[in-house]
Amino acid sequence: MLKGVAVRFDILFLFASNNFCKNFPFAILGTPTMGFRMRYFSIIIFLLYFSSAYGTQLLINHPQSESSDTVAEPGLKDVLSFPIGAAVKIKLLRNNAVYRKLIVQQFNSITAENAMKFNSLHPEPTVFRWSDADYIVDFAKANNIRVHGHTLIWSKFNPKWVTEFQGSRTDWENLLKTHVQSIVSHFQGKVASWDVVNEAFEDNGNYKSCIWLEKLGPSYIELAFRYAHECDPDALLFYNDYGHEFGGRKLQAILNMAKDFKRRGVPISGLGLQMHTVVRMEDAKIAKTLRTVAAAGLKVHISELEVSVRYQKPASFILDSNLALQQAEKYRAIFQAYQSIPKWQQFGITTWNVADADSFRNSKIKNHDFPLLFDLNYKPKAAHDVLMKRIRKK
Ligand code: G3I
Repeated sequence: MLKGVAVRFDILFLFASNNFCKNFPFAILGTPTMGFRMRYFSIIIFLLYFSSAYGTQLLINHPQSESSDTVAEPGLKDVLSFPIGAAVKIKLLRNNAVYRKLIVQQFNSITAENAMKFNSLHPEPTVFRWSDADYIVDFAKANNIRVHGHTLIWSKFNPKWVTEFQGSRTDWENLLKTHVQSIVSHFQGKVASWDVVNEAFEDNGNYKSCIWLEKLGPSYIELAFRYAHECDPDALLFYNDYGHEFGGRKLQAILNMAKDFKRRGVPISGLGLQMHTVVRMEDAKIAKTLRTVAAAGLKVHISELEVSVRYQKPASFILDSNLALQQAEKYRAIFQAYQSIPKWQQFGITTWNVADADSFRNSKIKNHDFPLLFDLNYKPKAAHDVLMKRIRKK
């Protein structure tokens, strides 16, 4: 806007210093004391010109101001008909302007990669560490982005005080309740939805052994959903897992649980398919699983998507253009299949991390991989371009 003001005064200034406009101030002021008023008017024009030009300079030189995260160019969020998200790393969000800008430009939903896990938020029985998660929530609010909470209860990333806790069944129920309700009430109205329980099943459909199963039996899952709902009845509550895009017994066990929860009024709103998938995954299989999951009559979240291209482990492995196009086609197939489920069930697609540079699959101690929509320099890849051009709003 300041630029616009500067341009307008640029024009006025030109007019005021031009022969054609010599009589312009006279016409406005319309008195015989023209010489004095002329000078007076010119000084005002002069001052306005410089203040607006200086203001424009300020805007250019200080991109970290309040509105710095606003980006004009369109991104995925502008072309897709469902929410598009990414898992975010708190350190990058706090410190990396390119990363923040890319998120604001491309996504309208975010998930904390680690900042809302048990160990991060509740490291001691009576200590809650909110600052990182609050920062994410504030960033989202300032930029009109939805926050999906991940994850209230999981077998992993639990602090020692939990895994070593001694107590009766009632004590364990209280521990679970206190954790779930402290977190959900802290973020009430700020976090739209939660992965209430993450990864509770084995591939063979059995319950995965973990501290919660050991102390409370399978009912820990239901209890977590009920406790969360008591605290924030408006939050959407998801069960989240991986590997069931392949179908099989794990998918069946999850669907049975969802059906049972719906029948008994356990407050479940949706199912999360993490979909840490690979470029070789068959399109037809993904489409079939999405239809099967949607048939459960709940919202569906592709919650941790990436398309891995790593076949082997060499450190020198690179993504050539042929493989980049194969990857782009896989993303397109997944997004298109997702768009085919009923609209009300499309909670959104979230990629797990933003760019290859910050993918959990691509750390120094792991192997080289290039699974995301943006590259090691946060530039869009072929997959991003294909989604921008070939997936249309429905
Ligand atoms: O907290 C320490 C930090 O202080 C230290 O500097 C750093 C050095 O390596 O380690 C830090 O903890 C690591 C943490 O990520 C933050 O970087 C943990 O060791 C590491 O285990 C943790 O890994 C995360 C993993 O979940 C376990 O929580 C990954 O970043 C995260 O991408 C991954 O995400 C999971 C989803 O939650 C559930 N689905 C699968 C997905 C991928 O495994």
